[in-house]
Amino acid sequence: MSKHRISVVTGGGSGIGRATARRLAAAGDLVVVADIAESAGRNVVEAIRASGGAAEYRPVDVASEASIAALADEVESRIGPVDVLVTSAGILQNATDIASFDLAEHDRVWAINYRGVYLSCRAFAPRMAKRRRGSIVNISSTSAVDAMPLIAYGPSKAAVQNLTAILAVELGPDGVRVNAVMPGYVLTEAMQSRIDAGKRDPRSMAGHSALGRMVRPEDVAEGIYFLCSDAASCITGVVLPVDAGYLPALSYLHHPGLGGVHPRRDDQRPVA
Ligand SMILES: NC(=O)c1ccc[n+]([C@@H]2O[C@H](COP(=O)([O-])OP(=O)(O)OC[C@H]3O[C@@H](n4cnc5c(N)ncnc54)[C@H](O)[C@@H]3O)[C@@H](O)[C@H]2O)c1
Repeated sequence: MSKHRISVVTGGGSGIGRATARRLAAAGDLVVVADIAESAGRNVVEAIRASGGAAEYRPVDVASEASIAALADEVESRIGPVDVLVTSAGILQNATDIASFDLAEHDRVWAINYRGVYLSCRAFAPRMAKRRRGSIVNISSTSAVDAMPLIAYGPSKAAVQNLTAILAVELGPDGVRVNAVMPGYVLTEAMQSRIDAGKRDPRSMAGHSALGRMVRPEDVAEGIYFLCSDAASCITGVVLPVDAGYLPALSYLHHPGLGGVHPRRDDQRPVA
């Protein structure tokens, strides 16, 4: 059995999951990078090992109950008891309206972003509860609390936040903590490809935050690292925004006295 704390990061092959896998490995965890994209997952494992850390790749499709159950069985029987689960496997969505949004895409967003998180928690949490220790961090989004033209994505993230609160209370007596992070606009591969395709305006994403910048995957990884650490041992059921101050800036900039422009920044267009 491993001498390390064992952490499983779904979606660990890219973006927020990859930064989290690196952060947890740098802190001494044995990190299981679980991703549907094998070469991306294996690259992360190689990079962690090259810098002296411990990591293993395991394939998973979080949309499949059997695949997640197999992952949990495999990790627990061959690697060791899982202390930390980070559910970062997810997909983004482009702006749309209810009439033209393809129902198959709607269902796919829910299958991965909500049901995938639900299945991941369902596979790992009971084992943690039996051992009376464990920590789970789910990934929400500012679109969970603000209306955006992301008609499946936003509701799926709101559901993730609700699930996080439910599980925190259900599993609290078993010593298992369940929290979430709520990233703002994070410059990951998924986001970069949308910027490249003209589907997101990077100036707007940065300019509409308090700090005037986009979030880096490493910023979110720090929040996740904290929530999984003993420093957060009395914190459960919370959703930690890591958004460069996007949420408070939204209402501030929309004050009718400002006209959508930050009074002390000239790098920004009016908020439409
Ligand atoms: N990028 C952002 O601005 C942003 C903001 C808020 C929340 N999030 C959330 O953060 C999470 C990670 O997003 P990201 O931006 O890092 O994306 P990403 O595309 O960079 O990484 C997502 C990873 O999940 C994997 N994945 C996708 N479907 C999978 C499946 N069915 N089974 C297993 N793995 C699968 C991908 O292969 C990829 O490695 C998602 O839940 C996303 O909704 C992202």
